[in-house]
Amino acid sequence: MTTSQTMQPTEIAADHALAMPAHVDHSHLVVADLPMVSTWYQRIMGLKPLETSASGETLGVGSRPLLTLTTSGNATKAPRNAPGLFHTAFLVPNREELGRWLAHAAHNNVGLQGASDHLVSEAIYLADPEGNGIEVYRDRPRSEWNFKPDGTVGMDTLPLNLQALYDEVPKHEWHGMAEGTGIGHIHLQVSDIPEADAFFRDVLGLGLMARYPGASFFGSGKYHHHVAANIWNSRGAPKRETQMTGLSDYTIQFKDATERATAVAKLDTLGIAVDRNGDTYSLVDPWGIGLKLAA
Ligand SMILES: [Fe+2]
Repeated sequence: MTTSQTMQPTEIAADHALAMPAHVDHSHLVVADLPMVSTWYQRIMGLKPLETSASGETLGVGSRPLLTLTTSGNATKAPRNAPGLFHTAFLVPNREELGRWLAHAAHNNVGLQGASDHLVSEAIYLADPEGNGIEVYRDRPRSEWNFKPDGTVGMDTLPLNLQALYDEVPKHEWHGMAEGTGIGHIHLQVSDIPEADAFFRDVLGLGLMARYPGASFFGSGKYHHHVAANIWNSRGAPKRETQMTGLSDYTIQFKDATERATAVAKLDTLGIAVDRNGDTYSLVDPWGIGLKLAA
């Protein structure tokens, strides 16, 4: 075990994605082959099993749960154009940790789908063995982000030099995702962008931080995005069905219960039913994706 793993959970900087008034803290996937997919997330993504239940297990980093995997005999494979997950994005603490994960992936012959410099961040893309999208990324310091007068932030998709990243990191043995890693954002497939703007900005209260053709990026506390929504595969697609593999639901954690209450009240005016279970509110979004609001 390295020193960093025996320390208490890493202090999170005040401008970190997870320190914002709202952030994504959990993703729940329904998978067909639970033991195989769970082993893969442990071996390749370095997540540790934290909890098991009758239907699945929860994996995380340190004591922080991040990903729940469950299986269901009734689940059918989601078609590629169904609303649901584009990727779950794991935010590592710095460029060195991104490089160390890259070296681990390379040494294990993990196929990557791409790597981009987004100006605000550097990102590597892949998929789990059942095709659920994953991003591993690190943020550049906010002092390097280009905030525009309209409140949005400059983002782009430029090639990331993976060889340079690989070459500059020490090739220590890798023992899992670094303490402090969390879900920096979740990127969804939805069927309509104006509808996504209405839901994430006007109802949930996130800021519209950037637009790409066919995609919007929403963030809390001026973070570049905690949620992205695109229609690249899913334009006009019907709602996601309940019994499909892939993203079942994800959780947005609000720091302030009043902000969550405001969001819940707005959901009510849209006629979106919200179930309260203890301290968590659950709903199904306009595209059939489950969403939990925690505070
Ligand atoms: Fe992303």
